[in-house]
Amino acid sequence: MTNTATFHTCFVIASILSISLLCLSTTKASNEGFSVELIRHDHPSHSPLMNKAFGRFMRQFNEIDTAQSAITAGKGHHLMKVSFGNPPQDIYGIIDTGSDLVWAQCLPCDNCYKQINPKFDPQKSSTFKEIPCDKSKQCHQLDTAVCSSSNVCNYTYGYGGGSLTQGVLAQEAITFTSTQGQPISYNIVFGCGHNNTGTFNDQEMGLIGLGGGPISLISQLGDSIGGKKFSHCLTPFYTDPHITSKMSFGSGSEVLGDGVVSTTLVAKQDKTPYFVTLEGISVGNTLVPFNNSTQTLSKGNMFIDSGTPPIILPEDFYNRLVVEVRNQIQMEPIENDPELGPQLCYKTDKNLEGPILTAHFDGGADVELTPTQTFIPPPKDGVFCLSMTNTTSDVGIYGNFAQVNYLIGFDLDKGVVSFKQTDCTKQ
Ligand SMILES: *[C@@H]1O[C@H](CO)[C@@H](O)[C@H](O)[C@H]1NC(C)=O
Ligand SMILES: *[C@@H]1O[C@H](CO)[C@@H](O)[C@H](O)[C@H]1NC(C)=O
Ligand SMILES: *[C@@H]1O[C@H](CO)[C@@H](O)[C@H](O)[C@H]1NC(C)=O
Ligand SMILES: *[C@@H]1O[C@H](CO)[C@@H](O)[C@H](O)[C@H]1NC(C)=O
Ligand SMILES: *[C@@H]1O[C@H](CO)[C@@H](O)[C@H](O)[C@H]1NC(C)=O
Repeated sequence: MTNTATFHTCFVIASILSISLLCLSTTKASNEGFSVELIRHDHPSHSPLMNKAFGRFMRQFNEIDTAQSAITAGKGHHLMKVSFGNPPQDIYGIIDTGSDLVWAQCLPCDNCYKQINPKFDPQKSSTFKEIPCDKSKQCHQLDTAVCSSSNVCNYTYGYGGGSLTQGVLAQEAITFTSTQGQPISYNIVFGCGHNNTGTFNDQEMGLIGLGGGPISLISQLGDSIGGKKFSHCLTPFYTDPHITSKMSFGSGSEVLGDGVVSTTLVAKQDKTPYFVTLEGISVGNTLVPFNNSTQTLSKGNMFIDSGTPPIILPEDFYNRLVVEVRNQIQMEPIENDPELGPQLCYKTDKNLEGPILTAHFDGGADVELTPTQTFIPPPKDGVFCLSMTNTTSDVGIYGNFAQVNYLIGFDLDKGVVSFKQTDCTKQ
């Protein structure tokens, strides 16, 4: 860690790229991982859910978006503070394992959404450098990148529900503040977003893409931090925002110890999503299999996404699961409430006494879900709704509500995801 502190000092006084690269090699030699704090960010009464969409998933997620608009409680992201540039400018970005690009709202804005904190100003950074469109491999790692007449790498990156960022790909210094308090810097390629629209709110200054594709933060940092691996512990909905949790990168981020279960990552053509195989979900002691008698179970039928709030399941599986959850709750659900829509909701003065659900992932990885992870109170007193919805796609999403209070590790080199039950508010 001393190494990285030294590196940072040297980085701050450096003003030309060659020096910063020199310093970077110091960090590289150390090849150490690091941890940062995460901030829970719920907006119960604002922006609609942000759903992921990219490439061939676009259509699927647009459909999901429509289905989800009723889950007004279903918002919640986790933010991570990073700084870009020299001198560093702070950015709070949404952590998103379902997309790759790291980007921030960037001056001058053609069309930015409202943001409370100052936007990133590349003019004030001595390390900002647009990457050349023709000669840069990274520019073409985004299939939507186009070269401008001045050889600038213009990108467009879309998410579900029509959210979009457009701008210029650039090389810049990214600085993390480790949980030990030290600044740690690297050079990465990120999106300087001049035209950003959609369901982002005024505290979200950009997005930290942590997917498996080549342009994601973890793919870019992997060689410098002892491997492409990271872990996070997300705090539950309605946690006091002053309580932070932890995200770790590289060596030291492994999820170890008693009670760890692991499942295999399934490689598909789309490298971004973390596909896993969900065999079924038990409600109490009753197993509801993912597939029915006429289907075969396909590998990689779910992906794990910190940027999507609910669990989203194929319709047939979802319907069978909801029937079983209803069976096991000794209360009448709320019916025909236009504000709540079709979701399964209950009204109670106390905490909801729901059954334990167990997600059975391939390889014997059983992940227990309590009502904290499965029933989210919408902004209506005493109402709890099942934090799941359905899709016409045959691939589902394991969203962030279900991920809370688990330390979840993604090891891209080994191709596994690990889960360990953890109180993320006390990390
Ligand atoms: C590239 O991005 C710049 C800055 O946002 C914009 O002014 C220009 O029109 C874009 N060019 C193309 C070809 O999209
Ligand atoms: C910004 O994005 C919107 C929506 O895609 C588009 O209509 C508009 O032309 C873009 N503006 C610029 C300057 O690129
Ligand atoms: C689901 O598919 C698997 C593998 O194709 C099969 O062995 C199993 O019997 C199926 N489950 C049900 C409930 O039909
Ligand atoms: C099984 O699921 C498929 C699609 O998910 C559905 O079309 C079919 O009707 C289901 N079969 C049974 C027997 O429920
Ligand atoms: C399931 O999906 C259908 C079709 O998209 C939608 O009409 C319905 O509201 C969804 N159900 C729930 C509970 O979200």
